[in-house]
Amino acid sequence: MMNIIQYTSLFFAGYFILSSADPITIEVSWSAKDYPLHTTPSLQIVTNPLVSRQFSPVSKKIFDNLAQLNAEYTRFAAWFPYPKMAVAELDPPSGLAQCGNAGESYPVQLSCRKSGGTISSIDFASYGTATGACGQMKQGTCHATTTMDIVKQACLGQQECSVPASYQIFGDPCFGTHKRLLVQIQCNPPQNNTYWNFTYVDPMFQDFLQATDGHSRIVMFSTQPTWLFKLDTPHIYPDNVTETDWGYPQGTQFVDDTMQALGDYYGRLTAWYTRGGFIDEYGDRHVSNYSYKWDYTEIFNEIEAEHQMTPEVYTRAYDAVIQGIRRHTNNTEMKYVGMALSGHYEFNWYRYFLNHSNHAPDIPLDMISYHFYASSKTRTDPLDYEAFFPQLDTFTDEIRQIEVIRKELSPETRTTIDELGIILPDDNTPGAPQFPLVFWNAGAAYYAYAWGKISRQGIDVVGHSQLVGYPNLPDLQLEPQFPSVAMLNWTTGEGTAKYWVSKLLINTTDIDNDQAVITRTSDVGEKNLFSQAFVTKNGRRWVLMVNKRFADINVVLSGCTGGTMQVVNEASGFGPATVSKLTSDQILLSAFAVAVVHMPDSELMI
Ligand SMILES: *[C@@H]1O[C@H](CO)[C@@H](O)[C@H](O)[C@H]1NC(C)=O
Ligand SMILES: *[C@@H]1O[C@H](CO)[C@@H](O)[C@H](O)[C@H]1NC(C)=O
Ligand SMILES: *[C@@H]1O[C@H](CO)[C@@H](O)[C@H](O)[C@H]1NC(C)=O
Ligand SMILES: *[C@@H]1O[C@H](CO)[C@@H](O)[C@H](O)[C@H]1NC(C)=O
Ligand SMILES: *[C@@H]1O[C@H](CO)[C@@H](O)[C@H](O)[C@H]1NC(C)=O
Ligand SMILES: *[C@@H]1O[C@H](CO)[C@@H](O)[C@H](O)[C@H]1NC(C)=O
Ligand SMILES: *[C@@H]1O[C@H](CO)[C@@H](O)[C@H](O)[C@H]1NC(C)=O
Ligand SMILES: *[C@@H]1O[C@H](CO)[C@@H](O)[C@H](O)[C@H]1NC(C)=O
Repeated sequence: MMNIIQYTSLFFAGYFILSSADPITIEVSWSAKDYPLHTTPSLQIVTNPLVSRQFSPVSKKIFDNLAQLNAEYTRFAAWFPYPKMAVAELDPPSGLAQCGNAGESYPVQLSCRKSGGTISSIDFASYGTATGACGQMKQGTCHATTTMDIVKQACLGQQECSVPASYQIFGDPCFGTHKRLLVQIQCNPPQNNTYWNFTYVDPMFQDFLQATDGHSRIVMFSTQPTWLFKLDTPHIYPDNVTETDWGYPQGTQFVDDTMQALGDYYGRLTAWYTRGGFIDEYGDRHVSNYSYKWDYTEIFNEIEAEHQMTPEVYTRAYDAVIQGIRRHTNNTEMKYVGMALSGHYEFNWYRYFLNHSNHAPDIPLDMISYHFYASSKTRTDPLDYEAFFPQLDTFTDEIRQIEVIRKELSPETRTTIDELGIILPDDNTPGAPQFPLVFWNAGAAYYAYAWGKISRQGIDVVGHSQLVGYPNLPDLQLEPQFPSVAMLNWTTGEGTAKYWVSKLLINTTDIDNDQAVITRTSDVGEKNLFSQAFVTKNGRRWVLMVNKRFADINVVLSGCTGGTMQVVNEASGFGPATVSKLTSDQILLSAFAVAVVHMPDSELMI
C-alpha cells in the first residue's frame, strides 16, 4: 500500500466536491495475480402482467431484450402477487363433486366434458355471502333465493355451463355487500375433479424458456397452493388475473404433514413442462406436449415468509419437493437451488440446511441462494443514492460469514445471490413520486459495484434484480410492482442504464478465464471510485471503474491511452454503453458512471 497517492477532498455545505486538479490515480500491477474471476453476472425476471404477452404491449420487447443479454443463470421467479399467474392448481382436488366460486361479474364455469357426460345434479348454489370449500359450502346471511332455480335452468342436463355472478341475473339480496356465486355440481357418468389450469402460467414461462434457450437457467415457482396449508376458511384469490393479492401465502402448517402432497404439486408442475404432462391426483392424464429442459430448479422464495417455516421445516420441504419432482419426472439430472433467504444474519439457517445429515439420503445441495437490497432515505434526491454503496459493504461482511459456514459444511455447494438490487422507499405506494432518471445510473453503478466487490469473494453468481417492474400504470390498470428494481423502461421496454450495465458486464467478462490483478487506487477505502483490473488468458486487459458519487470524478489510469472505453452514464441514456477511443491517460467519469476500459494491445505485459 505504499504507492497510494493521498487524495484531497473538500467539503462544502455537506456537498462533496471532487477537485479536478486532484484526480484519482489507478495503478495496476498487470502481472500480479489477485484472484480468479468466477462470478457470473446474471439477473432475474419476476412474473407480472407487464411481462405477459396476454396483457402487455411491451412483452415482446422485454423478451427480445432478455434474449440479447445472453445471460447464464437467469432466474425465472413466478411468485404470488398474481395467483393465477403463479399457481397452476388454485383449488384443491374435490373428488366427484365439482365446484365454482366467482365474484361479481365473473362467471362460474362448470364442465362434465371429461366424463363425456352431463351435469346431473346441483348440490349447492348461492349468490350472496356463502362460504366454504367444495363439499362444505354453506349459505351466508345474504342469499338470493332465486339462485338454485336459475343455476338448474342454466346447467342441468348440459355438458358444460357458465353462469355469471351478477345481481342482474339473481337480483340483489344485500345491497352494498360484496357477493359471490358458489355452486357445487356432479356429473353423470361421474368424474373426479381437479382444477389444474396453466392458462396464465404457460405464456410467460414459454417466452422465458425461448429467450434463454441454450443457456443455464434457474426456474422458481415459489408459491405453493394455499390449500396445501391448514386454514379455517379457504383463501379467496382474485378472479381478476391482474389484481394483486399480497395476502395469498397463508397458513403455517401443511395439511399433509408428510409433505407428499407438496412434492406432488411440484412434481406435476415440472412434468407438465418437461415430460409432456402428468398424471393427476385421481390417475387421469393431463397432456401438455411440452418437453422443455432447464438445469436448476429453485425451491421457494424467501421461504414465503408468511408460512413461518423453521429451518427444520424448510429443509424437509426442500427434500420433499425434490422427491416429488423425481417421482413425477424420473429426472435425476435436475440440479437444485435452496433457501433464497432475504433476512439478514440468519446464520442458523445456513448451518442447518448446509449440514447434509439434516437431509434425506440422495438429496443434492447444488446451490444456495440469498438476496440483498439497498435503499435510501428518499426516493428522489440523487445525493441520497450515494448511500447504496456502503450498504453493500455491510452485506459483503455477511457474505464472508456465510462463506465460512458453507465451506465448513458443504464446500461443493455453489452460491447464487439471485436478487441484488435497490428498493427505494414507498416503492409500491400508488402515487409515490417518480424518481429522477439519474436513479437508473445510480442503480446501474450499484450493481456493477456489487458484482465487482462480491467477485473478490468468489461467489458463483450475482443476479441483478429485476428485469421488469413498474409504478401505477393506469392505462393498463396495473398497480405498482417495485418500479425502482426495474432494469427496463416500463413504457417502452427499452433498457435503462441498469440493463446496459448488466449487458456490459455479461459481454465483457470471460468467467474462469479472467484473472483479477492487483489494482491500487489513490482513493482511500474506494470511497468515491471502485476499480478492478482483469487479465484474460489470451492477454486481453480490462478495467472496471464505477463512480459511486453524484459528482464528476477525474481518473488517471496509466497506460490506457490508445485503448477504448465503454461507458454507461447519464448521456448514454436508454442506449448501450458509449464507446470512445482514449487519447490520454486521464478519464472523466460523470455521476454514477460505469466504465470498462480496454487497455491498448501494445501494453501487453503478461
Ligand atoms: C382455465 O382458465 C381459463 C381462464 O380463466 C378458462 O377460460 C378455462 O376454461 C380454464 N380451463 C380449464 C380446463 O378449466
Ligand atoms: C382488475 O384489477 C385491476 C387492478 O386492480 C383493476 O384496475 C381492473 O379494473 C380490474 N379489472 C376488472 C375487469 O375488474
Ligand atoms: C375417482 O377417484 C377415486 C380415487 O382415486 C377412484 O377410486 C375412482 O374410481 C375415481 N372415479 C372416477 C369416476 O374416475
Ligand atoms: C399432443 O401431441 C399429440 C400428438 O402429436 C396430438 O395429437 C395432441 O393433440 C397434442 N395435444 C396437445 C394438448 O397439444
Ligand atoms: C419412472 O421410471 C419407472 C421405472 O422405469 C417407471 O415405472 C415409471 O413409470 C416412471 N415414471 C415416470 C413419471 O415416468
Ligand atoms: C450436522 O447435523 C447432525 C445431525 O443433526 C449433528 O449431529 C451434527 O453435529 C451437525 N454437524 C455440524 C458440523 O453442525
Ligand atoms: C421511459 O421512456 C420514455 C421514452 O423515452 C421516457 O420519456 C421516460 O422518461 C422513461 N421513463 C423512465 C422511468 O425511464
Ligand atoms: C460486446 O463485445 C464485443 C466484443 O467483445 C463488442 O464488439 C461489442 O460492442 C460489445 N457490445 C456491448 C453492448 O457492449
